[in-house]
Amino acid sequence: MFEEIRFNTIERLPNYVFAEVNAIKMAARRAGEDIIDFSMGNPDGKTPQHIIDKLCESANKDKTSGYSVSAGIYKLRLAICNWYKRKYSVELDPETEAVATMGSKEGFVNLARAIINPGDVAIVPDPAYPIHTQAFIIAGGNVAKMPLHYNEQFELDENKFFASLETALKESIPRAKYLVVNFPHNPTTITAEKSFYERLVAVAKKERFYIISDIAYAELAFGDYKTPSIFEVEGAKDVAVEAYTLSKTYNMAGWRVGFVVGNKRLIAALKKIKSWFDYGMYTPIQVAATIALDGDQACIEEIKNTYIKRLDVLIDAFENAGWSLKKSRASMFVWAKLPQSKTHLKSLEFSKQLLQNAGVAVSPGIGFGEAGDEYVRIALIENENRIRQAARNIKKYLKSE
Ligand SMILES: Cc1ncc(COP(=O)(O)O)c(C=O)c1O
Repeated sequence: MFEEIRFNTIERLPNYVFAEVNAIKMAARRAGEDIIDFSMGNPDGKTPQHIIDKLCESANKDKTSGYSVSAGIYKLRLAICNWYKRKYSVELDPETEAVATMGSKEGFVNLARAIINPGDVAIVPDPAYPIHTQAFIIAGGNVAKMPLHYNEQFELDENKFFASLETALKESIPRAKYLVVNFPHNPTTITAEKSFYERLVAVAKKERFYIISDIAYAELAFGDYKTPSIFEVEGAKDVAVEAYTLSKTYNMAGWRVGFVVGNKRLIAALKKIKSWFDYGMYTPIQVAATIALDGDQACIEEIKNTYIKRLDVLIDAFENAGWSLKKSRASMFVWAKLPQSKTHLKSLEFSKQLLQNAGVAVSPGIGFGEAGDEYVRIALIENENRIRQAARNIKKYLKSE
C-alpha cells in the first residue's frame, strides 16, 4: 500500500553484501555444523576485569540509573583528552573538542547527519569500512571513491594517495567538502605515517575540505609500528576530527563506547545533533570507560599479543594449506588475496565456497567496495586451535579441485 510514498534514503542504501554469507553461516549452524567464524571484527575476548568491576560498582550506586549526559560525562571527556595527551602529546579541551559517542559508528552517522547538506560530496577510499561510505548516504550526501595503493608490507603509498586524491577532488561536482581516512585501515590493514598526515593537512587547508580520521585500530599496532594521530600535526584541528573506539582496544565492542575529538565547529555540530537523538550512554558505562582509558593499560599488551600470536599461527598454517598470505602490521585482520586457483570466483563466490566446503566464514572483499573484490577479510577472532583447524579444512578444499 502507498507505494507512491518512497523511502529515498532506504532505497539509496545498498543491501548488506555480508548478509548472503551470514545467511549461509546461520543455516549451516542450525544444521549442527561447526563454522569457524573469521567474518566480523568482533573481539571474542572478555573485557578486562577492572573495567567490569567499575561498571558494577557504579551501577550499585544511587543516582547512576537516570538519564546521563549526551556528549559524555565531564570525567569521560577529560579521560579522552588525557588519553591524547599521554599517547600523542596533544592538548584537547574536554568542553569544546571532545564528545563521547555510543561506539564510533554512531559518532560517524550522527556527524555526517550534522554536517552534510543534501548533495554534499565526501571522498572515501575504496575499499572502506562500510559506514564510512553509508554515513554520508544516510545523511543525504554523495560519495566519491578513490583507490588506495600500498606496498607488500601494507604501507600506504603516499604519492599515489595524493595523486588519486587530486583526481577525486578535480572530478567531484560539487566540490568535495569532506575526506575520510582510516589508518590502520579496515579492511586492508594499510598503515600510514605522520608524514602522510602532514601532507594531508596541508592539502585540506589549500583545497578547503574537512578530514574525518578514524583510528579505531590505533593500539593494535605490531612490531615497531606506532599509529600516528592526525593531531600530531600542527594546526590539524583547523581542518580535522578524529574518531576512536574502546571496542577493539579493551574488548568492549558490545558496550558501545567511542569518541570523536578535534575541530570545534564539527564537534559542536555533533554535540548538537546528539542532544536531539540521545540522553547519553548509561552512566556506569561512561564511568567504566573512564577507567578503561585512565586505568592500568597492561591489558592492551595482552589483547594485542593475542592477535599477534593468532596472526603468526594463521599465516603459517594457511601457507601450509596452500594459501599464501601477507602479514598485517596492525589491526585485527588479514587482508587475504584469493588463492590463485580461485581468483576467477571473485570474493563473494569464494567466500560462499569456503563456508560450504571448509566450514570457514570470512568477509568477501566486495562488501567493502569494488576495489576489494580480489580479497577476503579474515578477522583474528578465533583461537589458535580453531585457526589450525580452519587451515586443515581449507587445505582439503583447495586440494579437492
Ligand atoms: C575502522 C572502524 N571504525 C569504526 C568501527 C566501529 O566501531 P564501534 O562502533 O564499535 O566503535 C569499526 C568496527 O569494526 C571499524 O572497523
